[in-house]
Amino acid sequence: MLNHDRNDRLTRVGPGTPMGNLMRRYWLPVAGVSEFETRATKPLRLLGEDLVLYKDLSGNFGLIDRHCAHRRADMAFGIPEACGLRCNYHGWLYDAGGQCIEQPYDDLAMADQPGRRRPRMKGYPVELKAGLVWAYLGPEPVPLLPHWEPFTWGNGFVQIVLSEVPCNWLQCQENSIDPVHFEWTHLNWSSRLRGEQGGYSPRHLKVEFDEFEHGFVYRRILQNSLPDDPLWTFGRVCLWPNALFTGDHFEWRVPIDDENTLSVTWHFTRVPREAEPYVQDRIPTWEGPLRDPRTGDWITTHVMNQDFVAWIGQGRIADRAQENLSQSDRGIAMIRRRFLADIEAVERGEDPKGILRDPAANACVTLPIVAREMLIDGLPKATILADPLLSRFYTRYLFQFGQPPAVRDAFAAAVGIEMVADEPLGI
Ligand code: FES
Ligand SMILES: [Fe+2]
Repeated sequence: MLNHDRNDRLTRVGPGTPMGNLMRRYWLPVAGVSEFETRATKPLRLLGEDLVLYKDLSGNFGLIDRHCAHRRADMAFGIPEACGLRCNYHGWLYDAGGQCIEQPYDDLAMADQPGRRRPRMKGYPVELKAGLVWAYLGPEPVPLLPHWEPFTWGNGFVQIVLSEVPCNWLQCQENSIDPVHFEWTHLNWSSRLRGEQGGYSPRHLKVEFDEFEHGFVYRRILQNSLPDDPLWTFGRVCLWPNALFTGDHFEWRVPIDDENTLSVTWHFTRVPREAEPYVQDRIPTWEGPLRDPRTGDWITTHVMNQDFVAWIGQGRIADRAQENLSQSDRGIAMIRRRFLADIEAVERGEDPKGILRDPAANACVTLPIVAREMLIDGLPKATILADPLLSRFYTRYLFQFGQPPAVRDAFAAAVGIEMVADEPLGI
């Protein structure tokens, strides 16, 4: 358990809060680049700050205050220009740094004061990588945006999935180091949702947690595991500070504010060898709904939807003063201790865990990966289709409900395998 003071310290992310200061030291994925094929602006709330992400007519992105420095009009209605975004109320134009560079009326009325200072609003650095738009809301010097190993892979179909989850980010991230939930939330609950009765899936016999430079690894042995099972020898990664990495996908939990989290999935599927060489011309981004639009019920058919329901069920901000941590929660205790230590490191003026500043070290940041060879070298189509579990990953999107037909079709064309329609699945 955590007392309320510590729970607040770990969960609150607004400007000036201890965890807010820590999270602002990391680049955060905030949108898909392909979203800006059909829009020029996107209002975003990040770490409790209301902002607007935009793409100007030169193709450059900016992230600035949601409200104009003049009289607070909504910059989400702004007009993109060759350089920057213009307020639609009185035409003030801002560059990507948030500096006002034009005030149409004042520029005439005050033409005798050419050197006068114009107002400035917030403007945060933005970078594009791997089909994602990334933002950095912290102080200088700006660290490097990690170039994770999977971003260097070829012959893959990548898709980005976004969802707004109505609860605090930390309970989402604690799920990234919670091996036993897989047995219950995804295997056993799914079987009951499918109406199956009878015995439960193989139990976890042993779990271990190890810290490394870019996070923590959790490893598991199930009743039916072999001693050299890669989930024991390699494990899965709780990526610092706010993601799960499983080898073929990342799931970032980006704090919108104290009570809402943006779930950002970057999912790589290696095409079968017969489909090589494959070069993806566009990484699609889609939004996954959380509720069934007909009934209003939470969707529970897909892996991440099941996770969302678990996190939301813990409350908007889980009250950790009322919990009873158990043997399977040793990893959760480890990341909480690391977060508290990192908060103190930032307060001392030091870099927290995992910050990259050396370009050579950032050329390709490797991570523990189960089945790395398969993800890089691929498999023949027949091998994929003959494997009951693997074939499911190539015939439907198992992870989240709501994949649009156009993305499904693009995926099917890339892998050369026919997809089946959405259905209640589990894994
Ligand atoms: S409120 Fe934006 S220019 Fe006036
Ligand atoms: Fe899960």
